[in-house]
Amino acid sequence: MTEENIEKYRKAGKIAAKARKKSKKIIKKGKSFLEAAEEIENYIEGQGGKPAFPVNLSTNNEAAHYTPGKDARKEFNEEQVVKVDIGVHVDGYVGGDTAYTKDFTEENFELVKASEIALENAISLAKAGRKIKEISKEIQETIEEKGFKPIRNLSGHGLGERTTHTEPTIPNVKTNTTEELKEGQIIAIEPFASTGQGRVKEGKKAEIYGYNKPIQIRDRTARKIMKQAEKEYKELPFAKRWIQGQYQELKMKMALKNLTNKKALKKYPVLKDDEGSLVSQAEKTIKIEENGCEGLTD
Ligand code: CO
Repeated sequence: MTEENIEKYRKAGKIAAKARKKSKKIIKKGKSFLEAAEEIENYIEGQGGKPAFPVNLSTNNEAAHYTPGKDARKEFNEEQVVKVDIGVHVDGYVGGDTAYTKDFTEENFELVKASEIALENAISLAKAGRKIKEISKEIQETIEEKGFKPIRNLSGHGLGERTTHTEPTIPNVKTNTTEELKEGQIIAIEPFASTGQGRVKEGKKAEIYGYNKPIQIRDRTARKIMKQAEKEYKELPFAKRWIQGQYQELKMKMALKNLTNKKALKKYPVLKDDEGSLVSQAEKTIKIEENGCEGLTD
């Protein structure tokens, strides 16, 4: 990693931190999810960054990957526990992935705290040479002590150039890996605490897509979308609403279906724990140092 690249990661991290702060003013009761997501994404661009993925606003038992579609009528209300997950890149360098939980119910303070404290405890252990399973154990124990379940099939992850999911993986429960953190790694740690079983399943709906591989396809709209996904987003996820308006609606829908069936694109369905359960999330991005870490999204 060159010094210039590191500066781009740092800049992305700072913009993500600012967007997170800004989002706390944007997100309030009665506001629409769609407006909120678009305002946060526009703010990121106004600061000189780009969203590394669509702003995620997952509610209650949804843990991740919900972003409003163009036709979403959903508004924030007092029955929601909302995970606000924001990602930023600068020239492709994803230096900011950060999330917090907004508890509109005002009854789930402990659930929100569980993932926040788990995150802080995990960060306090982060340094070069630290075994990843020690961090995972800390996350799991912190959340379980509070009486909740960590979500075992969602993990922290390395960040890189045009990717939000590279080595290493930081599980939220203890595993047998012998892997250690290395100096210079940029990672996002993201504990999820749940009142459900602590395992997410894919829902039916997806508003988020990602480029997977080139294929031969006759349909012109499909070809255009595939090229656009490859060129503009590469390994980074994008929202259907980002490309909406650039294509005729029905043609776009057919093309997206076609492209995912043929594996040119992949879908990111909403990930949910049990019906009726509530999930909290806290996430920050750090850079691993010899004796600790640098917070990129503080
Ligand atoms: Co993340």
